[in-house]
Amino acid sequence: MSASAQWGRPVDFSEGPGLKDAYKDYFTIGVAVNKTNVSDPAQMEIIKKQFNSVTAENAWKPGEIHPKEGVWNFGLADSIANFCRENGIKMRGHCLCWHSQFADWMFTDKKGKPVKKEVFYERLREHIHTVVNRYKDVVYAWDVVNEAMADDGRPFEFVDGKMVPASPYRQSRHFKLCGDEFIAKAFEFAREADPTGVLIYNDYSTVDPGKRERIYNMVKKMKDAGVPIDGIGMQGHYNIYFPDEEQLEKAITRFKEIVNIIHITELDLRTNTESGGQLMFARGEAKPQAPYIGTLQEDQYNRLFRIFRKHKDVIKNVTFWNLSDKDSWLGVNNHPLPFDENFKAKRSLAVIRDFDAKADNYVPKNDWVPNPMNQPGQEYPQVNSEGFARFRVVAPDAKSVIVSLGLGGRGGTVLRKNKDGVWVGTTEGPMDPGFHYYHLTIDGGVFNDPGTHNYFGSCRWESGIEIPAPDQDFYAWRKDIPHGNIQQVNFWSESTGKMQTANVYLPYGYGKVVKGKQERYPVLYLQHGWGENETSWPVQGKAGIIMDNLIADGKIKPFIIVMAYGLTNDFKFGTIGKFTAEEFEKVLIDELIPVIDKQFLTKPDKWNRAMAGLSMGGMETKLITLRRPEVFGYWGLLSGGQYAPEEIKDPKCVKYIFEGCGSKENPDGINKSVESLKAAGFNAEGLISEGTAHEFLTWRRCLEKMAQSLFK
Ligand code: XIL
Repeated sequence: MSASAQWGRPVDFSEGPGLKDAYKDYFTIGVAVNKTNVSDPAQMEIIKKQFNSVTAENAWKPGEIHPKEGVWNFGLADSIANFCRENGIKMRGHCLCWHSQFADWMFTDKKGKPVKKEVFYERLREHIHTVVNRYKDVVYAWDVVNEAMADDGRPFEFVDGKMVPASPYRQSRHFKLCGDEFIAKAFEFAREADPTGVLIYNDYSTVDPGKRERIYNMVKKMKDAGVPIDGIGMQGHYNIYFPDEEQLEKAITRFKEIVNIIHITELDLRTNTESGGQLMFARGEAKPQAPYIGTLQEDQYNRLFRIFRKHKDVIKNVTFWNLSDKDSWLGVNNHPLPFDENFKAKRSLAVIRDFDAKADNYVPKNDWVPNPMNQPGQEYPQVNSEGFARFRVVAPDAKSVIVSLGLGGRGGTVLRKNKDGVWVGTTEGPMDPGFHYYHLTIDGGVFNDPGTHNYFGSCRWESGIEIPAPDQDFYAWRKDIPHGNIQQVNFWSESTGKMQTANVYLPYGYGKVVKGKQERYPVLYLQHGWGENETSWPVQGKAGIIMDNLIADGKIKPFIIVMAYGLTNDFKFGTIGKFTAEEFEKVLIDELIPVIDKQFLTKPDKWNRAMAGLSMGGMETKLITLRRPEVFGYWGLLSGGQYAPEEIKDPKCVKYIFEGCGSKENPDGINKSVESLKAAGFNAEGLISEGTAHEFLTWRRCLEKMAQSLFK
């Protein structure tokens, strides 16, 4: 999608294939559902499009479906199953045995006295058989036992006043009555009732090293004893900072030693730092989420799914715990899911769906060099010959560091702290060639990268990076040629009541006396865009270097370029339709041009004067040249709009019109406009800059091309 399309309208991130289709070669994609999700038509559509696995969020839990002996609540449980049956969606059966939301009546007799474990087993068996038989036609996997292991904590605990090594097991009523035998029994009952279903042990905090090992040891012990455990469920209640790829991979590869089926059963990413199976914060109404938090979440989803894809040999399902932020058990304020509180897809959905399988395991070429825009002695950021960029930021106590540069319209490249406590990261793929502005967002605050020089853009001094381009020689310094120079001119502007500044490129040889006379030169007035100023063309635009090279190669006769501040920075976005450029017209024509013609060796007439500009500077150029054709004889718009033939009253008033833009902007518009100008008899020329967008490589290329046709 072109940049202008992105600016023009909000993007619908649900456009495209469903998640289940994007992942058909990997694993099934599931969602936990509540009553409304399977009765509201719009929500049902989302489920049908995105998911091919469904878990009942609560309806099948023992305490919900079987609250008392002989009392069964099949209503909601059946309606979820029927929704799945009707739509050909398979289910995960959650869950048959759990300490929470459990049928606690199983532990006591009619008088409230504790029962023996044999009675408990008989009740559990009957429960499991009833549920499994009722739904096994639509279920492919059961969470047979949920959360039986203890959380990470102290290595010791107090039992009856004595300090003893902490048990690896959760001290549930089940465990207290039966020891770990209840786990084996539950799996055996499930296997009796469903000989083919996948039987899962499900738990949270499975990436914590201690809990991971407790789960590993228990499952191994059970399997060694012949208990029918087929797989491990990693719940996946994570957050935007945790876990990292290494922690996650360690758990997956550890479990892979003993099972060949892993389900990610309950994925959601909190936007605070909590994780796991417990809730420790307040729910409440949705509050807007800071954009950088959204970026961190997209990046975390992206990283986790990359690891899931890498282990598709063992990961068979990934299930989101709830359909939308509105439904989330974590409360809407946590914004944990790919659909927001209004069931609108977030960018996270697109990030998860639109992965590039080739990029998954791609290692960028190891020919990194410091970015040419770095400050002296700074090794980072670096670029490689493929156009990747990598960053390094020292911010020991920061919680998050994001580089604003990224791919595909995302919020940028999220850095992660390495073992030395330094933030590092690489762009996900090659960037467009040429110059890019960027900044860092550290814990939500905007900063420049101390590695690079600063460049004026977006109405502030920003960091800059230069990605190698195939044609970079035309704007590279050459030692074998003479160089012109750039002077700063300050002048009083009566119309604005301020001093104004322009930078003036003077070609090499300017001022030389030839045959008793000083040579005089034509002048190009070259404007920057909305967020830039008079420094932008000389510095990141490399206007002087481009001119030196063209002159040295004999491609152009020397001329002067004046690069003035175009009064654009104060302009408010959204009012562009009302922009007249009248203020700048006064400064340029009544104040600047007379100063230039007085102070420099110019040829002070229309046929030796050109005006061109990029972006908003193009708008200024168009408005001013059409109003004042007696001042400029050559006109250029660089990603800055088009002239229509009928807008130009006197066809003889202009000798040459240039229009250009990047191939990622609006090339059709430029091509058509140039054609129609030519058809109307104008001397028009266009340039589409290959592989670039609304950025400086486009405009450097435009300047290089346009310069060769001026003043002829
Ligand atoms: C949660 C539900 O989402 C909530 O609605 C309910 O109040 C508590 O349980 N681990 C599990 C899930 O296995 O069953 C839990 O679901 C979340 C943690």
